[in-house]
Amino acid sequence: MVAARITVNGKETPIAPAAPHTTVLDFLRERGLTGTKEGCAEGECGACSVLVARPGVNKPTDWVAVNACLVPAAALDGQEIITSEGLAIAGEPGTPPALHPVQEEMAVRGGSQCGYCTPGFVCSMAAEYYRPDRCAHADTNTAADPADGAGIDAEHGPNGFDLHALSGNLCRCTGYRPIRDAAYAVGEPTDEDPLAQRREQAPPAPVATEYARDDSAFLRRNTLAETLELLRERPDAVVVAGSTDWGVEVNIRSRRADCVVAIDRLPELRELRVASDHIEIGAALTLTEIERRLDGEVPLLAELFPQFASRLIRNGATLGGNLGTGSPIGDSPPVLLALEASVVLAGTDGEREVPLADYFTGYRQSVRRPGELIRAVRVPLPLSPVTAFHKIAKRRFDDISSVAVAFALDVEDGIVRKARIGLGGVAATPIRALATEAALQGLPWSAETVEAAARVLRGEGTPMDDHRASSLYRSAMLGQSLLKLYAQTTEAVSS
Ligand code: FES
Ligand code: FES
Repeated sequence: MVAARITVNGKETPIAPAAPHTTVLDFLRERGLTGTKEGCAEGECGACSVLVARPGVNKPTDWVAVNACLVPAAALDGQEIITSEGLAIAGEPGTPPALHPVQEEMAVRGGSQCGYCTPGFVCSMAAEYYRPDRCAHADTNTAADPADGAGIDAEHGPNGFDLHALSGNLCRCTGYRPIRDAAYAVGEPTDEDPLAQRREQAPPAPVATEYARDDSAFLRRNTLAETLELLRERPDAVVVAGSTDWGVEVNIRSRRADCVVAIDRLPELRELRVASDHIEIGAALTLTEIERRLDGEVPLLAELFPQFASRLIRNGATLGGNLGTGSPIGDSPPVLLALEASVVLAGTDGEREVPLADYFTGYRQSVRRPGELIRAVRVPLPLSPVTAFHKIAKRRFDDISSVAVAFALDVEDGIVRKARIGLGGVAATPIRALATEAALQGLPWSAETVEAAARVLRGEGTPMDDHRASSLYRSAMLGQSLLKLYAQTTEAVSS
């Protein structure tokens, strides 16, 4: 096996002597690449953003921005990354490199003051700059000068720049308008741009990794069967995909594992199939990949994705990880409960399918047995036509929900034929609002029905008081959520 290494800014760099838990952020900084900054070490500020070459949706390779503070360096064995230093464009020998177009725009439009956040913003911005399906809009609705900040809508620039690309980056001093000006001013990559050209070749293939130091190890196998065998031998192993949860445990709670097993590149966990009666979503596809590949085919998921943390997190996080942690405040379980999804669990003895409604058994506990992996999530078809996801949090993006409610309703001839409601943040596990569903089904979709059902919904679960919200507030938000759905959809479903 080749010694673990990462290609950083075009140069092969051994991971040793880093510890198996050392993050990409520390790995880079220890090698002098101090443009990559640590702000929070828990995936909330984006100061550590770097670009990774990943399988593309529209081209062989996409440059994907991720939080370097969350990903162990060993997880990128054999992979290729670009830091803010690597974006600069090499000049003639003896001359300093020129600024990359996104760096140039950030500089001239006042997008950088203290500069601490700037390399992270620049990397997130560069990922969007190189997104193959970003295209400028000829729409005359837009301002002549993109620096005026007017785009085709509040979150997209005239150059097609999606501001959500920056939703995981925080700045403490500049103010966001100059940063948005820079984002909306970047043009198209030239044909000579080496990173644009790089998109035409396949990204590095995943490699089996056996990286051990001081009694701890980071392991990756090539196939699902090999991984399941490994987990049978090492039932104590921590399983990671995007590492967005485990990375926080390592950095903030100083947790360490004797053995970490990576599953994020297993081909068996990265398929997306649409059958006549269900859609099967591989557990290790990132949320960004699912969002781009489904392209709105499941409207409830399409509503979820922009509200799930930030683009930086969604570039690493997976549905399997969000369900695997068993958190009662994960954003995907309420949605998947409303969709009546099931999880496909794989073990050395074969596979079994478990309805998500039966999957969670207690706080951060589930029916998943030691050594089993979530291979896929299945969403049955046809989909209910009336859906909504309401996430109640202190910030619109990049936050943890106080309460999350997902609805999926069939309303025919003004009657609620079927109602499925998933709740997060109101019990030790994500739950279905069964009493509320019963209070809606078979009744007219009317203000009277909804008001009565909203009273039932306020009593679902066992919401707690904590630093995010009081139990009273949570209960009130449940009821409001149904009233809001009714207000939003009355026109759409009236017949
Ligand atoms: Fe804040 Fe990584 S240091 S997201
Ligand atoms: Fe200072 Fe952004 S420029 S934090």
